Amino acid sequence: MPEQDLPPLRPSPQSWLDAVTGDFPAFLRDHVSCEKKASGMALNIASHYPNKPVLLRVMCDLAVEELSHWRETMKILLDYGIEPAPDQRDTYVNALQHLIRRGPSLYLLDRLLVAALLERRGAERFARIGESLAAGTSRFAALAPFYRALAASEARHCGVFIELAGVEFSAAAVTCRLHELHAAEESIMLSLPPAARLH
Ligand SMILES: [Fe+2]
Ligand SMILES: [Fe+2]
Repeated sequence: MPEQDLPPLRPSPQSWLDAVTGDFPAFLRDHVSCEKKASGMALNIASHYPNKPVLLRVMCDLAVEELSHWRETMKILLDYGIEPAPDQRDTYVNALQHLIRRGPSLYLLDRLLVAALLERRGAERFARIGESLAAGTSRFAALAPFYRALAASEARHCGVFIELAGVEFSAAAVTCRLHELHAAEESIMLSLPPAARLH
């Protein structure tokens, strides 16, 4: 499904961006764990589907790419003298994962599409952060190009997950479920209080 056929993405509230820019070190501590979890998610998907070579190939690359995001983000924390924190519970991701239906085929479809929507929201938020850093004068302004590059990478990952869904399922099944999950993602996103976190 081409990007232009996806339902329009409702932008994250300004209150979220204000919370992030108001405590950027807290955001970075959360961001670094999100990248590690994204790599873990790709590894988990790979482990579940040893019989799907196309999916395995993509997950190998994705796990490494997300781990390289983790490495780059961790180095940023270290460069700024920010001590990493233990992983926090992620209400947004947990709520999205609750939408994944049981049953071998439904489970795979939902898992791929939830991953696509997570990547899409991540791309939107990294792009917003990149713009905001570039326009400001904070000590983190030099990170604007890093966040712009991450935004492009996560947007590409969204497309990769939708393409994988298209390999396994009919276009109609992908479109229908993607629209349902998209609506659910929007209401979950809007229900959460603004915080200096990725989600
Ligand atoms: Fe990433
Ligand atoms: Fe990603």
